[in-house]
Amino acid sequence: MRVRRACAVPLEADSGMKRNQKASLFSQKIDRVALVTYFLGAVVPLVALTVVAEHYVLPSLSDRNAALGLIALVVSIALLSLASFVILRRVTRNTLASMNADNARLASLLDVSSKLAGAQHVTEATSRCARSALDLAGAPMAYVFLRTSGEEVTNLAETRGENAEKVYQKIHAPLGKLVDLVLSGGRPALSDDPGLCSEGASGMSAAVVPIPGERAPVGALAVVRARSAPFEPAEVDALSTLAALASVSLSNADLRDAQRNFFSHVTDIIVHALDSHLGYHTGHSERVAQISNRLGRALDLDETRMERLHFAALLHDIGMLKIDRSQQMSRKVCEKHTILGHRMLSHIRLWQDLGPIVLHHHEWYDGSGYPEGISGDAIPLESRIIGLAEAFDTMTNVASYKETMSLEAAMREVDDGAGTQFDPRVVEVFRALVEQGVIEA
Ligand SMILES: [Fe+2]
Repeated sequence: MRVRRACAVPLEADSGMKRNQKASLFSQKIDRVALVTYFLGAVVPLVALTVVAEHYVLPSLSDRNAALGLIALVVSIALLSLASFVILRRVTRNTLASMNADNARLASLLDVSSKLAGAQHVTEATSRCARSALDLAGAPMAYVFLRTSGEEVTNLAETRGENAEKVYQKIHAPLGKLVDLVLSGGRPALSDDPGLCSEGASGMSAAVVPIPGERAPVGALAVVRARSAPFEPAEVDALSTLAALASVSLSNADLRDAQRNFFSHVTDIIVHALDSHLGYHTGHSERVAQISNRLGRALDLDETRMERLHFAALLHDIGMLKIDRSQQMSRKVCEKHTILGHRMLSHIRLWQDLGPIVLHHHEWYDGSGYPEGISGDAIPLESRIIGLAEAFDTMTNVASYKETMSLEAAMREVDDGAGTQFDPRVVEVFRALVEQGVIEA
């Protein structure tokens, strides 16, 4: 990978690898093998040669100079082999250190890859990317810049590191130039720009890599550390790989955000259509969703279930849209709204999970509800939550009742229904939330 430098400062031999050069067990083993090889291949033959020379060759040599010459030759060979051993050992150690550093980066990137893949939002993806860059480069500061789609504006989307924000105030101008350079060229850049060097006696060194997009970079990842530890090409390569992984993660997270946006607005449209179709239920679905969200949170549902609960609560009566206004007063007809709602949602792949929740939101805990008469834990927990939220809101808010109930009266109804209509555990949490003022009529 070609690395562009913002100003002509050569890369130094110093490396991040030196910081972590702790001989691994493998390198110690290689050292031992090299030492044994040296003894067997050089020391032992030399000792044997010396013994042979002393006992058989030297006595037969009459010339003293010839004898000295032979000894000098043996000593020279010994010194040369020792020097070769030292050089070989050093080269081996450096190679192993380099391999260890590469392996560590690879392991780190694999770890990062799985973390980035799980990012649900763009902000989560940028945060994970910046945090991983800190670990990968052993740097104290990392920044993620993102281009606003359709515009030529680049925003600082994420700042990581203890003093990252403070330092950014001082280096934002030269760093911004470097980012522009990377975004326009699409290649990584290193900098020892004087502007970056103004921070402290040792100054700063920055590596900026593009976050690739379909046609052009969608952003840049910048890592900043002390100038005394400039970035090596291998480190920049690792950062580029991280940026490429981040690009996929950002793209997926963006898609998820778009899906959420779509569902949120489509749900809003449906809920308003439902309100106007039912006439007397204004705001019912939103209030049921609000109560359900609070109950779900108190019952420790994870994020995925919380999201499902939220949408199911908003759409729990969607089946009523299929019931003609003229038949809305018929209890028997209205009871079909659970089955109709389930059927409507089952055709939408991304909402299929909501179907069973909507289907069972009128089941009773003792099995005397509808449409299937299932009981206890066989009823999805989300349905039990929505069932209670819906009943409470109907008692306290819905204008179809001749007289809406007070909070106290509604709570008595809820308490009476614990174990028959409602799940006692959900009622217990509900009562606690009402007492804390988290749920109100
Ligand atoms: Fe309902």
